[in-house]
Amino acid sequence: MARPTFQALPGTRDLFSPDTDRMRELVSVFAEQAATAGFALVVPPMFEDVGVFRRLGEASDVVSKELYDFHDKGGRHIALRPEQTASVCRMFAENRPLVPWKAWYAGPNFRHDKPQKGRYRQFDQVGAEVIGSHDPDVDIELIALAARFYARIGLHRVRLMVNSLGDAADRPRYLSALRAHFEADLDALSEQSRATLLVNPLRVLDSKRPGDAALIEAAPVLLDYISDEAAAAFARVQAGLAALDVDFDVSPRLVRGLDYYTRTTFEFAADGLDAAQNAVGGGGRYDGLIADLGGGEEPGVGFALGVDRTLLACDAEEAFPAPSTGVQVWVIDTVGALDGLQIADEIRRAGVRCDRSFDGRSMKAQMKAADRSGATLAVIIGADEASNATASIRPLRGGGDQYQVPRADLLSALRATLGADADHGSAISSPTSTTTRETLES
Ligand code: HAM
Repeated sequence: MARPTFQALPGTRDLFSPDTDRMRELVSVFAEQAATAGFALVVPPMFEDVGVFRRLGEASDVVSKELYDFHDKGGRHIALRPEQTASVCRMFAENRPLVPWKAWYAGPNFRHDKPQKGRYRQFDQVGAEVIGSHDPDVDIELIALAARFYARIGLHRVRLMVNSLGDAADRPRYLSALRAHFEADLDALSEQSRATLLVNPLRVLDSKRPGDAALIEAAPVLLDYISDEAAAAFARVQAGLAALDVDFDVSPRLVRGLDYYTRTTFEFAADGLDAAQNAVGGGGRYDGLIADLGGGEEPGVGFALGVDRTLLACDAEEAFPAPSTGVQVWVIDTVGALDGLQIADEIRRAGVRCDRSFDGRSMKAQMKAADRSGATLAVIIGADEASNATASIRPLRGGGDQYQVPRADLLSALRATLGADADHGSAISSPTSTTTRETLES
């Protein structure tokens, strides 16, 4: 009977090296930047009570259509997290860390979206949240953190759009003006947007349907309806970004896809990506969310950047190449005693990336494996080397002769050769390799 075969589900991907190396490196650059700005790592659970996510917006696609929710074996109604802000707020409400609380995170999120390039059902984000401060300087610092991160990874064709959605109290006046505007020309609106209008008129502005574009273009602008306090905070955000030389455009129609936002909202769009999926990151203030999750009247602000999309945008600009993580040394042992095992262990303990063949393969097969591995050097133990306590070093790239060294001198000989290679910018020029070299030279 034929065995069943399986494929990764739609919207999920199997990632291999070098994509995985690049992803890990991206997260580690973000980790470094976040730590520099005083953020500490948090790891929220990947699933929560569905109620934690309801507040993202009953009228938003994320909650109404895309939530992976189910009843677990204990009868709890739970959902895989579609994002991490709500979970971070729930963590805050439950654990009450001192404010201002600055947390960063990285990891997968789940949305039952329509899969396409740059839009997946499981996708990764890195993000940062600050809970407990109304100061617009926090908004500025967060936006700058994201902008500096893009610059640091070499992504330059990214546009920053900022807007203010005002306070919750500013909303009703604007919403009735907006509703009146759309209702005056209801037939011109798509069927989906007419349905959205009943639940949340603001979300209609988020419609990407071409038929809705003209009516949206003519709609009243929220910025004209916000309170003096919210307007002053927004002016401070703009002045701060200008003072830090962070380029931005004020985008009065930017509403974002989640309902919890108040005051500052922002989004980064990469010019190298298709318009429908060009948002590489975004965020804003969510001053009522924590109270809704039982955490008191603390304000919050943050952002999340899409790791997968950011890497696609890097591809389009040929930025942020994968770090080299391949092995540097391949150990070939044709004797089959314990030498190969011991030497590989010794080299690895010195911080050098090293591998070897198994299963008693022939010299020819081991040489072939060494070549294929991309290693710079092979260390060979044949009958001769085993009997006189030496090892042979054979350069695998860039020419050079094979030579024998006493076993006791093997590490220093490898150190010298790999170090010289690094000076010529070849085999070990990645950030990981710098560490290797330091280890070797210490
Ligand atoms: P978001 O705009 O929904 O915001 O997602 C942030 C980023 O995640 C997007 O700009 C995009 O790059 C990426 N992303 C979203 N959905 C997908 C998908 N289906 N496939 C691939 N990438 C995707 C949030 O998630 C908020 N939690 C951000 C935030 C933090 N606001 C305040 N604090």
